[in-house]
Amino acid sequence: MDAMTYYALAFLLTCVIMHVLNSLLSRISNHTLPPGPYPLPIIGNLLQLGQNPHRSLANLAKIHGPMMTLKFGQVTTIIISSQDLAKEVLQTHDLTLSDRPIPQALTVLDHAYYSVGFLPVSPLWRNLRRICNDQLFANKTLDASQLLRRKKLEELLSDVYRSSQTGEAIDIGKAAFKTALNFLSNTIFSIDFAHSISDAGDYKDIVVNILKAVGSPNLADFFPLLRILDPQGIKRSYGIYIGKLFVLFDKLIEERLKVRERENYVTNNDMLDALLDISKEENSREMDKQQIKHLLHDLFVAGTDTTSYSLEWAMAELIHNPDIMSKAKKEVEEAVGIGNPVTESDIATLPYLQAIIKETLRLHPPAPLLLPRKANKVSVQLINGYTIPKGAHIMINEFAIGRDEESWENPTLFSPERFMVGTKVDIKGKNFQLTPFGSGRRICPGLPLAMRMLHLMLGSLINTFDWKLENGMKPKEMNMEDVIEGNALRKKDPLRVIPLKII
Ligand code: HEM
Repeated sequence: MDAMTYYALAFLLTCVIMHVLNSLLSRISNHTLPPGPYPLPIIGNLLQLGQNPHRSLANLAKIHGPMMTLKFGQVTTIIISSQDLAKEVLQTHDLTLSDRPIPQALTVLDHAYYSVGFLPVSPLWRNLRRICNDQLFANKTLDASQLLRRKKLEELLSDVYRSSQTGEAIDIGKAAFKTALNFLSNTIFSIDFAHSISDAGDYKDIVVNILKAVGSPNLADFFPLLRILDPQGIKRSYGIYIGKLFVLFDKLIEERLKVRERENYVTNNDMLDALLDISKEENSREMDKQQIKHLLHDLFVAGTDTTSYSLEWAMAELIHNPDIMSKAKKEVEEAVGIGNPVTESDIATLPYLQAIIKETLRLHPPAPLLLPRKANKVSVQLINGYTIPKGAHIMINEFAIGRDEESWENPTLFSPERFMVGTKVDIKGKNFQLTPFGSGRRICPGLPLAMRMLHLMLGSLINTFDWKLENGMKPKEMNMEDVIEGNALRKKDPLRVIPLKII
């Protein structure tokens, strides 16, 4: 027997023993685990995840109920698919269920131990969240940087204008990514990361590959014994992309530190200045250069694809539903004047546009399974009598909750009107039938910036152009299928449309 076969057999045997021990232990410990599909030995329910886990899990919930237990390799995972149980996890037991499982790949450069997205609830995490909530994403700070975003919006409209002159179709997802990237790079560094859509492609590559490392099923996460082998090369690939980001951040931070030493230095009013001010005040303890880089990594990765996919879905739904497009155009036109871009202060006067964004996030949540949580310290018993055992991972299937017939009438219909009459449902984490940004302690800190970016782009694109599908396609012929990339939900066929200048 050669060494390879010997190790493979030893590994298999260990897995079988652990599977048997695990099954025995969970019976002995008298946990009332929620029901779920029967797990196969060793791999558990991994095969049932399929290419589109949000849909496979939604279908399984129809059979096994809104709280299910699945076994992914050696990891017990509880899947939540109803608003009542989401409230239990995200609100009632928020403190005990607020940690996250750490993907093996994210141990590169110790990212997981600095990351606001993956640190457990701890003094360091609280400090990072305080900085995000009070400084970076506070209304005052975002108001101060709105002119930077205004300029980037005008550039988007100029790009679109050029296409309207040549009659060329625009790939809305790519244009939205470039704009979201530059909105963020200007809000953080006061510079453009992407000067053209092809420049933006390089960053897209980084973001998509990092999201894959965070979100794609990785055997090394399900079988701790495989950690050292990195069998799918996910950790290796993550190392390359985080390295690229850090080289860029190092350069920008060093340059800014030099400029700040000048006597006549005038603040840029951007996030980097805010972070360097904090690091100076706090004597570099909580916010040193290292910490800044890890925080910026999270903001870029969490903020670009989520925002651009949402914009692409919103435009796709409007083009797919011409009556809703006409109504939206009329509202924006009356509020800001035909042909004018929307400003951040206009958003409050555009309730129908706001309803369109909410409806888009309901049907097409960019993070369809949110970000997983973990019962780190204790087991938790929920109102329905079932237990989430200590160490289990928890996934909230936001996609399934957004389409749940118990919570929504005609759930698969795109109808912004449902948010216009008699409902106060919002996306800020208090209404558990709609939590695309999560809820509780770990709710997305970028929510206020994301909402500004989405309304600015969508309102301005529909108020300055009419839109027609490429190759004479009719709205009803559009393919509205979705696909998961990393852990983000994008439109399967990119939206390509020809802009026609209005005036
Ligand atoms: C976390 C969604 C945009 C930064 C999250 C979570 C979700 C989410 C579902 C997990 C929440 C939970 O566990 O309860 C979205 C959506 C966006 C968006 C739908 C856009 C449409 C942004 C932006 C930024 C950002 C623009 C920053 C620039 C973060 C960070 C976390 C996070 C840092 C981790 C927070 C923590 O674990 O404490 N986001 N996000 N996101 N988001 Fe967003």
